[in-house]
Amino acid sequence: MIIAIDGPAGSGKSTVARMVATHLEFYYLDTGAMYRALTVAAASRGIALEDEAALAELARTLPIEFGYTTGEALPSQVVIDGEDVTRAIRLPETDAGVSVVARQPGVRAALVAQQRALAAQHDTVVEGRDIGTVVFPDAGLKVFLTADPKVRAFRRIQQNEERDPAGEQDRRGAYEALIARDEADSSRQHSPLKAAGDARTLDTTDLALDEVIDRILAWARVARLHHQEGALQ
Ligand code: DC
Repeated sequence: MIIAIDGPAGSGKSTVARMVATHLEFYYLDTGAMYRALTVAAASRGIALEDEAALAELARTLPIEFGYTTGEALPSQVVIDGEDVTRAIRLPETDAGVSVVARQPGVRAALVAQQRALAAQHDTVVEGRDIGTVVFPDAGLKVFLTADPKVRAFRRIQQNEERDPAGEQDRRGAYEALIARDEADSSRQHSPLKAAGDARTLDTTDLALDEVIDRILAWARVARLHHQEGALQ
């Protein structure tokens, strides 16, 4: 069964998707990391981020892999064409460029094909922007997470601090960058960020993480029963 978790940056998607996957013993696929890895690969090869033909070619040919640390169930490394880009994909310059890469239909077609192939083999929690609408329209459960933009920016800043405690952060700049990226992701022509008609929308602004997880796990239990019933027919 596929569980699709979509929503804007800082809505809690990644943390929630990872915890739900761990609870249910599902695989976990971070599709944003794939658009980010491609952005890093393009920049390191000197390819302009607007060059759709070249980027689509990279997306079709460069393998993107998720690496696992021994003893850990969730992937902790992102590798493209053999290069470990785990840290590079979270840098502000990648944040700034990734929306340009992600709006190109040739890039999306290539990465969506990879996402379907990766998730088809296992029960998987897949997080992104278009998972419930485009990548897995038949997902057993679709969740769309939202939260107040200031709360989302604050969460993103906290995440960056956890990753890099010594790093200096421009908080106002981080907020503005997040709003700009949401706007770009929601208004693009191809596969914009939006809730699927049959998604369950959850506003996490005033919810504790445990409450969000409990709600999704309750939905997942019901969805799993339907999924198993479907398989019996
Ligand atoms: O979830 P994230 O912040 O790591 O996503 C990075 C970028 O990739 C974001 O600007 C939107 C884009 N993206 C997308 O267009 N489709 C997806 N399924 C996942 C991410």
